[in-house]
Amino acid sequence: MRLFKQLLTVFAVLGVLVGALMIFAYDVVKIDWIVFMEIQDSYGSQEKPLPVPALSIPVEGPAYLGADPVNPIPADEDSVARGAQLYAIHCAMCHGDNGQGNGTVSAFLLKKKPADLTSAVVQEKSDGSFFLSITNGISNPENSLFPEVQFSGQMPSLNENLTVRERWDVVNYLRTLNAGQ
Ligand code: HEC
Repeated sequence: MRLFKQLLTVFAVLGVLVGALMIFAYDVVKIDWIVFMEIQDSYGSQEKPLPVPALSIPVEGPAYLGADPVNPIPADEDSVARGAQLYAIHCAMCHGDNGQGNGTVSAFLLKKKPADLTSAVVQEKSDGSFFLSITNGISNPENSLFPEVQFSGQMPSLNENLTVRERWDVVNYLRTLNAGQ
């Protein structure tokens, strides 16, 4: 009987200890442990991006200054077919399957709707201007979350998604959207 009482006391003490530990383990009482991932030079979501270091050069493909680049890729069947595939992957969710600006994502773009790529306003622009829009995205500093960052806002820059060659294929495909009208 005495042994039983002693055992009971030991288990009771153990139980209380484990219970107390669990309060912290399961965040019933939250302790702000230091998480080392948090201690680094980075910016959180919706914080201003860090400024680019002085004298740094772009590493995300060629930067075009001044005049629009000229389309070096002939709009043959292969190029247009490749462009169509790439368009379906990278553009259709916003600009719609037929380029009319009615993709599934467009309903969620509140500030500016995707352009109707079949419209005269858009089709009148040069190949080079299409290329730059894909490369850099389209910004409107007025609406942009980060006005001091040059390209942010309406349409994301897709230079990391599409190689230079692929961008010209997409441009060649965009021209066929008009012809179908
Ligand atoms: C996240 C949605 C989104 C994606 C993805 C997207 N766009 Fe756009 N695009 C937009 C919006 C929004 C505009 C309208 C911007 C404005 O009028 O200010 C636009 C405008 C354009 C324009 C008109 C440019 C101009 O100078 O008026 C072209 C061309 C274009 N997009 C091509 C493309 C191509 C090609 C792709 C795929 C490689 C693509 N976009 C992917 C949202 C998107």
